[in-house]
Amino acid sequence: MRNFDETTITEAVLARVANAPDPRVRAVSEALVRHLHAFVREIEPSFAEWEAAIGFLTRTGALCDDKRQEFILLSDTLGVSMLVDAINHRLPDGATETTVLGPFFVAAAPELALGADMSPGVEGNPLFVAGRVTDAAGRPIVGAVVDTWHSDDDGYYDVQKPTEEEGHFAMRGRFRTDAQGRFHFRTIKPAAYPIPHDGPVGKMLEAQGRHPWRPAHVHFMISAPGYETLVTHIFEEGDPYLDSDAVFGVKDSLIRAWPRHEAGQAPDGSVSRVPFHTLTYDFGLKRAD
Ligand code: BEZ
Ligand code: FE
Repeated sequence: MRNFDETTITEAVLARVANAPDPRVRAVSEALVRHLHAFVREIEPSFAEWEAAIGFLTRTGALCDDKRQEFILLSDTLGVSMLVDAINHRLPDGATETTVLGPFFVAAAPELALGADMSPGVEGNPLFVAGRVTDAAGRPIVGAVVDTWHSDDDGYYDVQKPTEEEGHFAMRGRFRTDAQGRFHFRTIKPAAYPIPHDGPVGKMLEAQGRHPWRPAHVHFMISAPGYETLVTHIFEEGDPYLDSDAVFGVKDSLIRAWPRHEAGQAPDGSVSRVPFHTLTYDFGLKRAD
């Protein structure tokens, strides 16, 4: 077959991939060709636009290494990460809703004792976090690993700081739930922050008339044998970016008030000489199939 034109090229490419031995590869290839061709037909790009698109993807790839992953950021900001997440997390009642992992998770965060301060010496308003981990029916899960991380008062994660030394962790830690499935720790109150926007994704947001901000949140990754690992965040009620999160990660069920308390007795029994905030959330895990 030859002499393809606007009206015949799509069918020709579909015929070419129709013999892929793996049925999943075939289905994905066919959908890719159909949607990509439909996209190009709708846009009718000039050659200059097509070259700009190739340049954009090339710069996006060039900004991917073990520290920066511009392609995931592109997926996040186009809502694709949350769509994939939603498709893969059709949850039963009682299971906590999920959201994006984000680029600032560190697998080897230190394991800390319940009640520990995971941000010692970091400037900011104290935040006392507490909660429970249960199954979807509300039964406590003992020994669940609660991995948590968040930004500082200025909206930066420890790994974004130029002064970061290898092996230095702040505002992150791992805790294990007690016999009632409970955990608690002390930290500082995180701030809203812009996602990394000094690369092609930042340029795209600007061109689309969008801001790069995420509302203030604390990340959680909670795992226990026999359960699906839960990746989520808890957002602060009243944050101005809740309805325009740059990565579409906000869900009503993940928003809580982080009330402010005057100086005095803190929930862990200590006495805070400065005002502090509290955040309480009970997480439900889905059983692994
Ligand atoms: C984060 O919350 O850490 C995050 C998520 C997606 C993109 C950038 C940052
Ligand atoms: Fe974050």
